Amino acid sequence: MVARKLELRRLYGETARAYDKRYEKIQRAKYIVVTKNLPGRTKRILDLGCGTGMFLGELSKHAEFVVGADASLEMLQAANVRRGEATLVLADADHLPFTDGSFDVVVSVTLLQNMPDPAATARDVARVLRPGGRAVLTVLKRKHPREELERWVREAGFELLTSGEVGEDVFCAAER
Ligand SMILES: C[S@@+](CC[C@H](N)C(=O)[O-])C[C@H]1O[C@@H](n2cnc3c(N)ncnc32)[C@H](O)[C@@H]1O
Repeated sequence: MVARKLELRRLYGETARAYDKRYEKIQRAKYIVVTKNLPGRTKRILDLGCGTGMFLGELSKHAEFVVGADASLEMLQAANVRRGEATLVLADADHLPFTDGSFDVVVSVTLLQNMPDPAATARDVARVLRPGGRAVLTVLKRKHPREELERWVREAGFELLTSGEVGEDVFCAAER
C-alpha cells in the first residue's frame, strides 16, 4: 500500500471507536438512498469500505450472502460485533481478493474520496461484479462533483442508471 493509504488506514483505525457516535445519523441517510437503488433480492452483495458495518444488517435483507471489506482492522473489529451472517474481509479496495464476477451488487458509501485514483477503484469494482451486476456508489461531494463520479463509472464500463445528491455525498447507480 502506498504511504497515503497507510496513513488513512491509521487515521480510520484511530476513529473506529468514536465513528458511529459521530457519523451514524449522516451515514444512515445515505443507506436509505443506496437501498432504494438496489435491484430486487440478490445472491451476493459486497459492501466496499464497510467501516463499522452499520449497513450490513440492512444489506442482509437484500441478499443471501453479504461481504464487508475494509482496509482498517479496527473498523472491521467494530463491524464484527454487528455483522450477523455477513463475512468480513480485510482488503484494499484497489486490490480486491475476489475473482472476476463474484458479486451481483457492490455498494460503497463514502469510500472513493479516500482512494488515490478512484477511477482505478471503479475498475476493480467492475471486475468483481458479474455482467449485468449493479454498483451503487457514493463519494463526498466537496471532494468530487457528481460529474466526476459519473465519469469514473462510465470509464470503468458501466451504464449509468441514475445519480444525485444525498447529504454531503453524491451518489450513482450503474449497471455493468
Ligand atoms: C468514511 S468511512 C465510510 C465507512 C462506511 N461505508 C460507512 O458508511 O460508515 C470510509 C471507510 O473506507 C475505509 N477505507 C479507506 N481506504 C480504504 C482502502 N484503500 N480500501 C478499503 N477501505 C478503505 C476506511 O477504513 C473507512 O472504514
